[in-house]
Amino acid sequence: MKFGTILKNENFKSDYYEIVFYHPEIAAAARAGQFVHVQIDEISSRMLRRPFSIHDTDIEKGTVTVVYKVVGDGTKRLSGKKVGECCDLLSALGNSYSDVAPDEYPIIIDGGYGAAATYILAKNSPVKGSFLFGARGERDVILTEKYQALNWDVKIATNDGSVGHQGLVTDLIAKVIEENPGKKFKFFACGPHPMLIALTKILMQQNLDGEISLDHVMCCGIGACFACVVKVNADNEQKWRYARSCSEGPVFNVKEVYIGD
Ligand SMILES: Cc1cc2nc3c(=O)[nH]c(=O)nc-3n(C[C@H](O)[C@H](O)[C@H](O)COP(=O)(O)OP(=O)(O)OC[C@H]3O[C@@H](n4cnc5c(N)ncnc54)[C@H](O)[C@@H]3O)c2cc1C
Ligand code: FES
Repeated sequence: MKFGTILKNENFKSDYYEIVFYHPEIAAAARAGQFVHVQIDEISSRMLRRPFSIHDTDIEKGTVTVVYKVVGDGTKRLSGKKVGECCDLLSALGNSYSDVAPDEYPIIIDGGYGAAATYILAKNSPVKGSFLFGARGERDVILTEKYQALNWDVKIATNDGSVGHQGLVTDLIAKVIEENPGKKFKFFACGPHPMLIALTKILMQQNLDGEISLDHVMCCGIGACFACVVKVNADNEQKWRYARSCSEGPVFNVKEVYIGD
């Protein structure tokens, strides 16, 4: 099935929308961290597809939920789509986060719409972990109540101090580690690139394991055009190579991520 029928498309806070598609095949196949590539405009030559993380699925109802922020033309048009309209969907694309092992303590670190990408992971995790969320300010604090409802320990940081700790989300890591002595930590993250690189450096310095989703601008979404490349470590003279974030990612282990320059 190519098309997903829109069952809901609602603004829930500031520029953020929740859209629910009826698409039983994607609902059954999707894993945490994968994305759906949405053709927003019917005249396909006028607009490339836009990638969005799969926020949630309901296999019985055959639904796939995406949470998106209106930032430009494509997302603005998407926000104008009505219930009953259809979108051409390519999915479930990309790799996924690893499952949380029963002996691990998961710590999710997200920024902005990144909170959408890790929800299935938290929902399926055998262990209730910590969810650290960072945003510029209150208007970008989203989905934290859903992690609270899963009984995860939720901590928030905002740049302007309007909610939670004033500062960076990575400032919260030390406190979580201190509160959970002796645990085997595993980090999972999605958010702005600078946040992910800062997190990667912290985890590498402290020899901690983690997986991050590198949400690079995409074109084909299926590994054919190389528009989405990111640098990963490689055993060659320059010490890095380009990896296609759409097909080899978007999820990478922090040990793979090249932070040389
Ligand atoms: C794997 C993946 C998962 C994503 N998941 C989500 C999600 O769950 N929810 C969500 O709201 N967005 C998500 N995005 C980002 C989303 O794809 C872009 O916001 C969207 O394509 C912008 O389209 P537009 O036409 O509205 O904006 P454009 O007019 O194309 O761009 C407007 C602004 O958004 C910026 N932008 C465009 N693409 C990206 C991107 N990939 N990352 C960051 N900034 C971008 C541009 O630099 C520009 O400043 C994801 C991106 C990727 C690659
Ligand atoms: S977007 Fe074309 S190869 Fe990744």
